[in-house]
Amino acid sequence: MKNYLLCFVCLLGFGLAPGGLLAQKVGVQALRCEYRENPLGLDQARPRLGWQITSVGRGVRQTAYQVRAARSLADLKAGRNLLWETGRVVSDRSVLVEYAGAPLAARQQVYWQVRVWTTAGNSAWSQPARWEMGLTAPTDWTAQWVRVPWPEDPKLPQPAQYFRHNFSVAEPVKAARLYITSHGLYEAFLNGRRVGDDYFTPGWTSYQKRLQYQVYDVTALLKTGTNALGVTLAEGWFRGELGWQNNRNVYGPQLALLGQLEIEYASGRKQTVGTGDGWQCGQGPIRRSEIYDGEVYDARQEARLDGWATAAYATTEGWQPAQTADLPKNHLVATPLTVRKMLTLKPKQIFTTPQGDLVVDFGQNLTGWVRLQVQGPAGQAVRLRHAEVLDKQGNFYTANLRGAKAELQYTLRGGGPETYEPHFTFMGFRYVAVSGYPGPLTPDRIEAVVLHSDMEQTGEFTCAHPLLNQLQHNIEWGQRGNFLDVPTDCPQRDERLGWTGDAQAFFPTAAFNFNVAPFFTKWLADVAADQLPSGSVPFVVPNVLGPNSAGSSGWADVATIVPWEFYLAYDDLRLLAAQYPSMQKWVGYVRQQAGASYLWRSGFHFGDWLYYNEANPSAEPGYTDREFIATAFFAHSARLTARAARALGKADEAAEYETLYQNIRAAFQKEYLTGAGRLSPHSQTAYVLALAFGLLPQEQQAQAAARLAADVKKRGNHLSTGFLGTPYLAQVLSDHGQLTTAYDLLLQTTYPSWLYPVKMGATTIWERWDGQKTDSTFQDVGMNSFNHYAYGAIGHWMYTNLAGLALDPEQPGYRHVRVAPRPDARVPGARASYQSAYGRFEVDWAWANGTFSLKVTVPPNATAT
Ligand code: BGC
Repeated sequence: MKNYLLCFVCLLGFGLAPGGLLAQKVGVQALRCEYRENPLGLDQARPRLGWQITSVGRGVRQTAYQVRAARSLADLKAGRNLLWETGRVVSDRSVLVEYAGAPLAARQQVYWQVRVWTTAGNSAWSQPARWEMGLTAPTDWTAQWVRVPWPEDPKLPQPAQYFRHNFSVAEPVKAARLYITSHGLYEAFLNGRRVGDDYFTPGWTSYQKRLQYQVYDVTALLKTGTNALGVTLAEGWFRGELGWQNNRNVYGPQLALLGQLEIEYASGRKQTVGTGDGWQCGQGPIRRSEIYDGEVYDARQEARLDGWATAAYATTEGWQPAQTADLPKNHLVATPLTVRKMLTLKPKQIFTTPQGDLVVDFGQNLTGWVRLQVQGPAGQAVRLRHAEVLDKQGNFYTANLRGAKAELQYTLRGGGPETYEPHFTFMGFRYVAVSGYPGPLTPDRIEAVVLHSDMEQTGEFTCAHPLLNQLQHNIEWGQRGNFLDVPTDCPQRDERLGWTGDAQAFFPTAAFNFNVAPFFTKWLADVAADQLPSGSVPFVVPNVLGPNSAGSSGWADVATIVPWEFYLAYDDLRLLAAQYPSMQKWVGYVRQQAGASYLWRSGFHFGDWLYYNEANPSAEPGYTDREFIATAFFAHSARLTARAARALGKADEAAEYETLYQNIRAAFQKEYLTGAGRLSPHSQTAYVLALAFGLLPQEQQAQAAARLAADVKKRGNHLSTGFLGTPYLAQVLSDHGQLTTAYDLLLQTTYPSWLYPVKMGATTIWERWDGQKTDSTFQDVGMNSFNHYAYGAIGHWMYTNLAGLALDPEQPGYRHVRVAPRPDARVPGARASYQSAYGRFEVDWAWANGTFSLKVTVPPNATAT
């Protein structure tokens, strides 16, 4: 590297213009409340606010802010009857600023704005933003739970349930809200129009402890006169098949609905229409709809239901009174994030396989469903099956879905064009096999709808190496495919569970790609809710596997790792404080298991799951002793809990956990480290974890990294790590003087490596290093997902080391970043950007003709080194 060309740009949107020469205009925008834009239905008594500063100046810092909030826009504008008026607050804080105004009642609407003083001048008041409180107390719910009166066979999937109710709206409406939740999944309609654009509501939580409700502004859907509310209800996670042992009714055998429509008239009068007496229920065309198995839809049954969710509907046949049910309302919580339709994809090709299946290829392994247009005779049945891959011969391959049918059956109504998409199921697929389609299936007749939690994309990464760009693409799609209300292991087979080990491994990468703060705020509450009284943490959350499926190291450590990493990514002390007791309980549990030895040698552990080469241990096995891993993670969790205690101002507890960490570390060294600095077990993962968790004496670290690098060399530049070692592998190498080896691994294209699947045409991250072998045969059908994000954890290293954009743990939440690309001649350029709470960071470097040039963009009120 001969020359350096450095260029720091702090000019949002203004390229290289010299800041000092321009008139410095300061603005404030992107107002957020609890990470969201104008959220509806909050249950935080003191929501937190944030804003972004815009300025053409360099190094601009906020010196003070002023926030005001009011019950109405008019009050806000006039500055009267304010709920909150901070006055000028001398502070550089612009994210997660806690509301401290008048107490907020249920349903309270709040309009707010902010202005800032900065080193480059003052802003005017921002545009107003708003938020609205939800139903904050159980007594706010006056509606009653309802359910169907007919008997159902709990052993079999049941047809969807249809609920309807007419009501009258007597006067002009000022505003109306629908508060709604269910046991099972619901879809709501008001006067025939769908309410909201969320799917899989009310979402999946530990239902007995926390049940989410949603809030919709339905003002525009109402009319004066008679109105009608209709809701469909289906099995979902509540009572549909869940887990690979064919469990049903995990949360109970009966579905139920709770909805409350609150209308405020222009006159000021209020009216509530709730589920309860007077509601009707029946069945319709959704004959069956289940998460794993897909949907059976008979459109011929639509005729009897035409207009069923409108007031004009007069059919009484097939409808009967719904029953009210005395079910709890004291565990209802607001929803931070929902699943939506995020993208649609057109077919890449439609072809016939050697076995004669008509197959649509969408060119991308994805999670969601298809939208089909069809015209034909009544009673004609179209069948759509879903697959991630084709086999060696190019035939449709579904064996790896195990027990999941992942199939749609649509029976035509006949008589005109019909459009179908399913309702309460999702599929993980790239290919769809279609049979029974009347006439030719042309590409304009079918498209794929991608569904996932509606996270804002925050990260971007590209570099001068096409295969790495495809790897980044696959990582991103692994996240899209598996962030469907909970972080699932996979979206296709009869599993799709919130595996805790996978989630902790992938979290730092996930938090770069997308804003996952609302997503994990919700899920971490479930981690805490499902934690066992002993402090042990389940393998999956929500826990559907039972109390004995808990306590594996590397999985249960999700309770400490994710809250801490969340805090680093978002500077969210409230979240950390909320999870801190759960962190303590987990560490307390392990401490008890380990006893005076500080070595954790009991219980069941998944270990370094899917390391190389589990199936063939004689081939230079990468196996790492599970007790070694357990103790290493015990140390790591103790250290993270110490850090959390320190961040929360609990100095005594911090010291206590620090001592615990030191004791574990000492015991670990005595047990597993030879005098000459060799680890037993001598696997890659052993060195990786020991280095990553700071378990080796300072003076032996470089040597340990060298041994690790030597092992990589010995294997022809291949890794042998599994779920637990892989996430830290490149980082410990590059942190300890073995950068070239990190690149050797990253750029390796033969199995096992990150780029092997890329070379094999993968469009997502595979569960196994060799999901499809070089001869195009597949790994064991018992466990072979082509959409599993865990190995995608390398994404974090690509952002933070290859591109060189990393948060600073000393100033979390991207308040300050470290720009430190670690280039290798084989990848001569990279660009990464991150949309932080302060605004957009970008690092863009190139290394060409002996010149290294670096361009950095830093948003106002943040800094970079
Ligand atoms: C899941 C994994 C999970 C593992 C735990 C598998 O069935 O798909 O991702 O972490 O089990 O052993």
